Amino acid sequence: MKKDVLETLKYNKGSFISGEELSNRMGVTRTAIWKHINQLKGEGYEIESVSRKGYRLVGEPDVLNQHALQMELQTKVIGKRIVHYDTIDSTNNMAKRIAGEGGDEGVVVISEEQTGGRGRLGRQWMSPKGTGIWMSLILRPSIEPAEAAKITQIAAAAVASAIRKVTGCEAGIKWPNDIILQKKKVCGILTEMGAELNSVNYIVVGIGINANVDVALFPEDIKKIATSIKACVGNNISRKELVLQILKEFEALYLDFIHTKSIGKSVDICRAHSVTIGNMVKIINRDQTIIAEAIDLTEEGELLIRNQEGQVEKVISGEVSVRGISDYV
Ligand code: BTN
Repeated sequence: MKKDVLETLKYNKGSFISGEELSNRMGVTRTAIWKHINQLKGEGYEIESVSRKGYRLVGEPDVLNQHALQMELQTKVIGKRIVHYDTIDSTNNMAKRIAGEGGDEGVVVISEEQTGGRGRLGRQWMSPKGTGIWMSLILRPSIEPAEAAKITQIAAAAVASAIRKVTGCEAGIKWPNDIILQKKKVCGILTEMGAELNSVNYIVVGIGINANVDVALFPEDIKKIATSIKACVGNNISRKELVLQILKEFEALYLDFIHTKSIGKSVDICRAHSVTIGNMVKIINRDQTIIAEAIDLTEEGELLIRNQEGQVEKVISGEVSVRGISDYV
């Protein structure tokens, strides 16, 4: 019921809706409506009440806990349980622990701050308090370990689409796991798994987004290659709205993959927003460096390159830097 009251207020955001209309729509008394409004106010929603006009939603709290998110979540599986922390070492570590103890597919771990946030290749991931989105999703797909990289493509497509829809910023995807704004990295994805030789036990997808992070606080070397959504739009964005949209987009693409066994829909999005395709890339794989032109993605989400001898090759993984993007080395 409270969820319905909130939805109606949100739908009419900025304009008044009378207590009578709310009570008619919900089929409860005006006193019951008033109680829900008071509860919402207690949760940080700014609701103006004016006699003879009714109620008007003016502001919403930017909280990422189970209660706040689940009131507005539009998914069936992803986010059915949200575990929220003020501070934690790494949401990926916690998600792996929960998964190892039998946690269900769809559990999402979110923390306001990470003290040991991890990036790819053992790098550190800066995760300051209250300004970013540091979250990890637990999945249990029936796939082979070699297919795990597909989940990264699904996540990249979901994050880029969500950033575009919620903020209007033109988020690009640097294959395989970075989201780029204005030529700098705004989000990284770290996919990890627990697996047997032939089957995946669980996958944890860690997503780190510099949403409202103040770029002035980045160390000098990071400033050159990283940015935040706030730096792009000029003001704080609603982290809650972005998380909700990411979970919605992710679920749609993930369930499509589970049902069709194809990540075609995600690959289409990754292609459409790619900052890699059409550019020269440097790919570092262990002790080998390849310089080539990125030409396309395969239907399986691998990168197709044309090497300096003119041959077309498939790249399954690697550290990629793209000419024109600020981390090009
Ligand atoms: C990268 O670009 O190297 C990947 C960065 C992934 C960071 C996220 S933040 C949430 C989750 N928890 C972690 O410790 N890492 C991932």
